[in-house]
Amino acid sequence: MITITATLYRLVSAGMRAAILASALATITLAAPAAAEAQKNAPTILITGASTGHGLAFTEEYARLGWHVIATCRTPAKADRLNALAGKFPNVAVEQLDIVDDTQISALAEKYRGKAIDVLMNNAAINTFRFGARNFAKIDYKWFEEVLVVNVIGPMKVSEAFQEHVAASRQKKIIAMTSTGGSIAEVTVPIAIPYRASKAGLNMAMRSYSIALKAKGIIVSIIAPGTVDTEDYMNAKDPSTVPANYQTMIKGNLLAPRTAINDMIKLIDRLTLEDSGVFYEWTGRVIPW
Ligand SMILES: NC(=O)c1ccc[n+]([C@@H]2O[C@H](COP(=O)([O-])OP(=O)(O)OC[C@H]3O[C@@H](n4cnc5c(N)ncnc54)[C@H](OP(=O)(O)O)[C@@H]3O)[C@@H](O)[C@H]2O)c1
Repeated sequence: MITITATLYRLVSAGMRAAILASALATITLAAPAAAEAQKNAPTILITGASTGHGLAFTEEYARLGWHVIATCRTPAKADRLNALAGKFPNVAVEQLDIVDDTQISALAEKYRGKAIDVLMNNAAINTFRFGARNFAKIDYKWFEEVLVVNVIGPMKVSEAFQEHVAASRQKKIIAMTSTGGSIAEVTVPIAIPYRASKAGLNMAMRSYSIALKAKGIIVSIIAPGTVDTEDYMNAKDPSTVPANYQTMIKGNLLAPRTAINDMIKLIDRLTLEDSGVFYEWTGRVIPW
């Protein structure tokens, strides 16, 4: 690599200038294919539920790292923020995927047949603490069913459909985004029964799946991401613009900083087969079942 200031360049002879230019051009010509090669060899991640929250934040951070990101969501036409990210990062592809729609799952798996997917991130979920202790007797069982189907069956269906893509990759990782609320050992208050039951069910499904996939060298990791401040409200220039519920969470120290997304990326990078089937918190703490 040649570094030369404009002043120095003016002082040297014409012959020397030509040599400098030729060398610089050669560097550029060599660097372009090297960059293209690096981009071609970059790992690939498929993320479900990438239109909002954690999924959107992971899409942005993996895109910044140069990964190929297949960012899926139910309604791409309405996913304005995700589409804006795809406009900014050419390595982000937006795809439609409802994780409980068999036709869409098969169509997307078929579209990417032969493509190695290093990390499959099952992030999409019905993420709600609806139905607290006081209305325990009023659980809407249709809703309960929907939560179980989306949060437990959806990630399993997507994982099975893309298992071969993951098996063909270098990193071979399937991630299930769960919740500390799915830990039976740590439950102390009777709230969010459908959500918690769904995450406990997801944990069991993924733990069993991890045993089945170990022989294939595929790591299945169960990670509780915590309530991450994905909008970075903690660092808002004008705190009065922060929604009231987030102001309360910030005061109560109930939010993990936006950088928790980067911490989880590092945690995912470090995973080995030894970690397969382990229930992790985003901090790296192992959560009891
Ligand atoms: N935020 C937290 O406090 C917290 C804490 C612990 C664990 N988690 C877990 O972290 C993950 C991400 O949560 P989040 O906070 O980012 O929640 P979020 O903002 O509500 O995002 C959930 C995403 O899932 C998508 N989704 C819902 N049903 C779907 C379906 N049938 N098919 C495809 N996509 C579907 C939603 O898409 P639409 O936009 O189309 O509805 C949305 O993009 C979830 O697994 C959640 O359980 C979150």
